[in-house]
Amino acid sequence: MNKTGTRTIETTRLILRRFTIDDAEDMYNNWASDPIVTEFLSWSPHPSADFTRQLLEDWISEYEDGEYFNWVIELKENRQAIGNISVIKLDEKIDAAEIGYCMSSSYWGQGIMPEALKAVMDYLFDVVGLNRVAACHDVNNPKSGRVMEKAGMKLEGTLRATGRNNKGMLYDKVLHSMIKSDRC
Ligand SMILES: CC(C)(COP(=O)(O)OP(=O)(O)OC[C@H]1O[C@@H](n2cnc3c(N)ncnc32)[C@H](O)[C@@H]1OP(=O)(O)O)[C@@H](O)C(=O)NCCC(=O)NCCS
Repeated sequence: MNKTGTRTIETTRLILRRFTIDDAEDMYNNWASDPIVTEFLSWSPHPSADFTRQLLEDWISEYEDGEYFNWVIELKENRQAIGNISVIKLDEKIDAAEIGYCMSSSYWGQGIMPEALKAVMDYLFDVVGLNRVAACHDVNNPKSGRVMEKAGMKLEGTLRATGRNNKGMLYDKVLHSMIKSDRC
C-alpha cells in the first residue's frame, strides 16, 4: 500500500479535501449537531461548536500520517463544508479499508454521497493501491445501503448484532464491498 494520506480529490460537484480549523463552524452547524444525521451513528450530536473545534484539532494533527484518510466534503456551488468521508478501518495485511460517511440533511437525495464515495474508492484503489474497500450500515438505515450500491459496491450480507449505536443498542450491520477485480 502507498502511504499517500489525505490528498485533495475533485469531482463534478465536490471538492474532497483535508479539514482545516475554519471548517469547525460549518461542520457543527451543517451536520455534527444534528440528531437526524446521527440517528444511526455511533456518536451523538456535538454539544457545542467548541467541541467540534477540538475534535478537528485532533483530526488535523493526524494528517501527517500517510495512513490517515479523512476528507471534508465541500460543495463547489456554495463553498460550504457539508459532510465527511473517511477510512475508519485499515487492514494493511490484506490491503483493505472500511469507509464511513455522513452529511448535512439539507443536501440528502441529490446523489452527493455516492459521488463522493466513488471518488474516494477510485483514490484508494488507484493511488493508495488497495485491493478491497468495504462499508457497513445499520440494517434500519437502508438509505446508506443505497449509497454503497450506487457507488458500485456489492452486497456481502448481514452481520448480526455486530454494531452498537449512540443509544447503546446493538444492531445488525449490512456489509457491502468492492474489490479491485470488480471494477470495469
Ligand atoms: C446516508 C447518506 C450519506 C445518503 O447520502 P445522499 O447524498 O443523500 O445519498 P443519495 O442522494 O444517493 O440518497 C440515498 C438514499 O437516501 C434516501 N433519501 C433520499 N433523500 C432523502 C431525504 N431527503 N430524506 C431521507 N432519505 C432520503 C433514498 O432512499 C435514497 O435512495 P434512492 O436514490 O434509491 O431513492 C445521508 O443520508 C446521511 O448522511 N445520513 C446520515 C449519516 C449516515 O447514515 N451515514 C451512514 C452511516 S453507515
